[in-house]
Amino acid sequence: MKMKAVLIDRVTPAQSVKLTAIPVPAVKPGWVLVKVKAFGLNHSEKILRLSEINNRYIRHPVVPGIECVGEIADASDTDFTVGEKVCAVMGGMGRSFNGSYAEYALLPAHHVFHVDTSLSWAAFAAVPETYLTAWGSLFDCLKIEVDDTLLVRGATCALGYAAMQIANALGCRVIATTHRESKLSLLDDSVEKRLDGGKLAGELNGVTKVLDLVGPAVLKDSLSAVDEGGIVCQTGILGGIEALRDFDPIKDIPNGVYLTGYFSNSPTQAIFDDIFRFMDIHHLVPKIGAVFTFDQIKEACLTQDKGGADGKIVVTVE
Ligand SMILES: NC(=O)c1ccc[n+]([C@@H]2O[C@H](COP(=O)([O-])OP(=O)(O)OC[C@H]3O[C@@H](n4cnc5c(N)ncnc54)[C@H](OP(=O)(O)O)[C@@H]3O)[C@@H](O)[C@H]2O)c1
Repeated sequence: MKMKAVLIDRVTPAQSVKLTAIPVPAVKPGWVLVKVKAFGLNHSEKILRLSEINNRYIRHPVVPGIECVGEIADASDTDFTVGEKVCAVMGGMGRSFNGSYAEYALLPAHHVFHVDTSLSWAAFAAVPETYLTAWGSLFDCLKIEVDDTLLVRGATCALGYAAMQIANALGCRVIATTHRESKLSLLDDSVEKRLDGGKLAGELNGVTKVLDLVGPAVLKDSLSAVDEGGIVCQTGILGGIEALRDFDPIKDIPNGVYLTGYFSNSPTQAIFDDIFRFMDIHHLVPKIGAVFTFDQIKEACLTQDKGGADGKIVVTVE
């Protein structure tokens, strides 16, 4: 049986993204077949298409897509049941094995999670990777608490919106930055808005935690923008620089400031149970920037490459 999927084996600008017919994967022990109902687009998939695909650790050719939501189509030898509502995220998905830009995805059962939610498939698809990362960055890394002042750097991305929602729900003071003046008005009035030209140190008062989504391009400045005793979590790389070549921990991390990083590669059922319970209690609905059908996958990727979507880009595969 054949299915529609995106398959890439070289650098692929959005303009060249297309659907192709490939076999529905055959199940194997420990892996389940998921009928993909929808998936969110991620900044990392843009990086995969535009450069990371050149690396040998990427499967060639590969179906991109690091997350999806859908239903179990074949439970193989696992405890899942056919028709069960699930999400799946990371663990090599869309990199070392085929991912979610397909009608079906064969996924390792330990990276597939049961979810009870009344969200539509499109809204559900905006949650897994984005809220997992916001949750882990805020709670596991930043140890966020109600009396914190959280600075979200590069806030006008799907992850930034999710992090601001969670911090607002907790009752924190939130300062949010964007690099585009035109995007200031997109930020919610519940947060303090700042234009971010790369230098905030010395300009802000009382920042106790920083969620840095711009990344190494501004990391040293973030470390200097937080109060003594504060924590900076390096989670995003929107600034286009992925690693620091010239970093002197003794001089670049101010005394009493803590630096941590988050990587969304270790999701668990317990974390997703916590996330969906929290979203339910606080009536959180993910901010969606645009929804496309699977036949519009090229348009979805064009929107991603162009930037400017105000929230998560979602593709439905029903
Ligand atoms: N550590 C992890 O495990 C993990 C997990 C998930 C995501 N991430 C990272 O988190 C970041 C956000 O991911 P996402 O998927 O939520 O992104 P996204 O929704 O695809 O959003 C990207 C948006 O950020 C804006 N942007 C681009 N350059 C920027 C800059 N220098 N400063 C501020 N904003 C900029 C772009 O719009 P404009 O240019 O129009 O403003 C674009 O709309 C990415 O760097 C991603 O790689 C990390």
